[in-house]
Amino acid sequence: MPAKTMETRPLTVPATSKVDFGVELHHVDVEHLNDDTFATIRDLLYKNHVVVLKDQTGLSPEAQYELTRRFDPAAVTYGHGKTLDAKRSVLHPDLKTIPHQPQVQVIGNGFYEEYEGLENITLKHPHHKTFHKTKIPDEDDLNATRFYRWHIDAALYALNPPKVTSLVAVNVPAGRRQTLRYDDGTGDELEVPLGTTAFVSGQTMYNLLSEKDKEFVRNAKVEYAPHPYIWMSPARSRPDGLGMESDNLELPESELPPIDKADIKVLPMCWKNPLTGNLALQIHPSAVKAIHRPDGTVMTGLKEVRELIHRLQRPGIAPELVYAHDWTEGDCVLFNNQGVIHTVVGAFAAEEKRLFKQCNMASSEGVMGPDGKLY
Ligand SMILES: [Fe+2]
Repeated sequence: MPAKTMETRPLTVPATSKVDFGVELHHVDVEHLNDDTFATIRDLLYKNHVVVLKDQTGLSPEAQYELTRRFDPAAVTYGHGKTLDAKRSVLHPDLKTIPHQPQVQVIGNGFYEEYEGLENITLKHPHHKTFHKTKIPDEDDLNATRFYRWHIDAALYALNPPKVTSLVAVNVPAGRRQTLRYDDGTGDELEVPLGTTAFVSGQTMYNLLSEKDKEFVRNAKVEYAPHPYIWMSPARSRPDGLGMESDNLELPESELPPIDKADIKVLPMCWKNPLTGNLALQIHPSAVKAIHRPDGTVMTGLKEVRELIHRLQRPGIAPELVYAHDWTEGDCVLFNNQGVIHTVVGAFAAEEKRLFKQCNMASSEGVMGPDGKLY
């Protein structure tokens, strides 16, 4: 039977959605990807930010790695390097590394006797109660959920943010839905499939700003905390998952691993799309430590810094702007990690088993600022 022709289809979104990004791609043979097909996928990714490759059941970790690496052939190490090993990191419980393909991590929920060389692993879907300051009452827990932590996949210390992340759904529990609550006083809610991954466009987030704010974010930079995921570990998140509460709980530098000042990341607030030239507001809100204003002064008061970032980002996560992917087994989602922010969502029962593979590589070069320079 001849191979079917590659075909794009629009994503399925609710009638009220204003999501203007994302595309489905059917009939791609990822295990035998030629240069022309990859060029098409890359073009789609930088124009649509989220590309859902359908029917990739059985995709090997090697092929997933090769596909992801092609976006940045000189990249080799996993996006977080070896920092996942740090027991105090907030990322530590969530990811298990595939021994024969260390750029690929297994995530999910439930016990698996064996998977790709990992034995007797217990996966735990991150639940907001382990990271947020407040939580949904226990009696509502399986019906309601929150955005866990809006983020860019990036170490934000020593390593450059990955260009692209791939997520492959191996096991997806069947079809329950949940109500996602923002719990930030707005009353905002969103109907989501259980265990959705939620995405918003950094480009839309930028476009929603006033002209004055646009000028500010084009010229300001964000300084990230050294070893941010350890630094933030005792602190707690806002209920909308978009940054942290300020209760002075962050670890002092004396309790962090050694810090090399040269490894601290000061990145532009806006990152430029390499294909379209469009700007995206790309800030990892929970890892931010200071703002370098356009006039060269530095805002260091954490509460003030976080309030400002939240004011800039919050309009961009309004319910109608969120793409909540409804996972089907075999989906391979590629996303432009330098053009969207995303979050885990969902509250699973212990028996609801889920297994995903995630892959990204620390970029071989810095992110592109509005001035076209790499940072
Ligand atoms: Fe992520």
